[in-house]
Amino acid sequence: MNILIIGSGGREHALGWKIRQSKKTRNLFFAPGNAGTSSIGTNLKIEVTDFLNIKKAVLENQIQLVVVGPEVPLVEGIHDYFASEPGLQKVLVVGPKKSGARLEGSKDFAKEFMVRHNIPTARYLTVTHNNLNQGMTFLKSLEPPYVLKADGLAAGKGVLIINEQQEAEKALKEMLGGKFGKASRKVVIEEFLNGIELSVFVLTDGKDYKILPEAKDYKRIGEGDTGLNTGGMGAVSPVPFAGQEFLNKVESRIIIPTIEGLLAENIEYNGFIFFGLIKVGEDPYVIEYNVRMGDPETEAVILRIKSDLTELLLGAAEGTLKDKILKVDERTAATVMMVSGGYPENYEKGKVISGIEKVNSSIVFHAGTKEENLSVVSDGGRVLAVSSLGNSINDALHLSYRNVEKIQFENKYYRKDIGFDL
Ligand code: AMP
Ligand code: GLY
Repeated sequence: MNILIIGSGGREHALGWKIRQSKKTRNLFFAPGNAGTSSIGTNLKIEVTDFLNIKKAVLENQIQLVVVGPEVPLVEGIHDYFASEPGLQKVLVVGPKKSGARLEGSKDFAKEFMVRHNIPTARYLTVTHNNLNQGMTFLKSLEPPYVLKADGLAAGKGVLIINEQQEAEKALKEMLGGKFGKASRKVVIEEFLNGIELSVFVLTDGKDYKILPEAKDYKRIGEGDTGLNTGGMGAVSPVPFAGQEFLNKVESRIIIPTIEGLLAENIEYNGFIFFGLIKVGEDPYVIEYNVRMGDPETEAVILRIKSDLTELLLGAAEGTLKDKILKVDERTAATVMMVSGGYPENYEKGKVISGIEKVNSSIVFHAGTKEENLSVVSDGGRVLAVSSLGNSINDALHLSYRNVEKIQFENKYYRKDIGFDL
């Protein structure tokens, strides 16, 4: 079948790389893709929220399955668009409709959902201009640090963690006043949970689910988890501190109540659910839901999926996931992200990348790259994800780092401590 992947990052290259390997996959397209995806499929110059041109491309190329990588088109209703648009209704879409995408698109909705279904999460209060006083009282009742979250999508920047109460009060007012635009008209104030974070992923058709390999992501720009938050600087899977007993708790306390909660609320859901978790003592709590795969977690997790991903995605889209098989590689996958110097603040693009052809025993997934005058050049903050499988974390990291060193571009930067805390 012909398949379209929406998105242009390392996640989409990794998904496409795996989908390409399936006998079921005939022609593979990306909208808009990057310099890596063009080597495994056809890039279409269409932005992820340009539904009209996506429709045209789907009809023109007889695409039967659409896999949506990022959250924005899901929250904006790409799946609802396909379901209502003449000519598109038979096209299968992997990714929830708007109603399900609220799990990521509204932190307030996600928190209420968790409370309704008894899913462990931090205590919270949602604040608008109308109950600001109550918000201030709630802040005073909490121990520092204070966690403030913009309700809506804010490109990963909408969460503030603040040590001083007065500063938190000020930030709360600024957020309500439009610091993150519409996204922070509502703010979720949360109790701070002290623990260690991990990401758990499921693929679901709304009734059944498959638990994909879990991963740990490295979010800060600096070594030792210091400095600004980024989209993610590396990932490791499996996660040594998430043993079977802990993962059983994740399934029984979090995954099952989430799937059953969606069913009970008549929220049709197919696609990925990304549980951003924190392990406090021996217990899992949900920090956030995402309605897509993680990036760069996908670039690690994908190496451990042994089964046919196209089959699994079809199962999710068609409601036949229980008939599909997911086999997971026991080995460890490690991903190191190469970024542009200056990221996540100002950085330059258009730097010529060399040495990718020297890489061996790792896979290079492109994130922010494009082709220009027959060269591959950087085109984003996160540029390349170098992923490897090994018999141990050290083996996998060793391979990734060895290959990272072979790749050059001006002002390249990467963290040298991915995975070493484990
Ligand atoms: P989010 O955008 O929801 O993933 O939040 C960004 C980061 O803030 C998370 O990855 C956590 O490191 C941190 N965070 C969010 N909520 C909490 C919380 N309740 N307690 C501790 N840390 C949190
Ligand atoms: N790596 C975190 C995310 O994809 O949101």
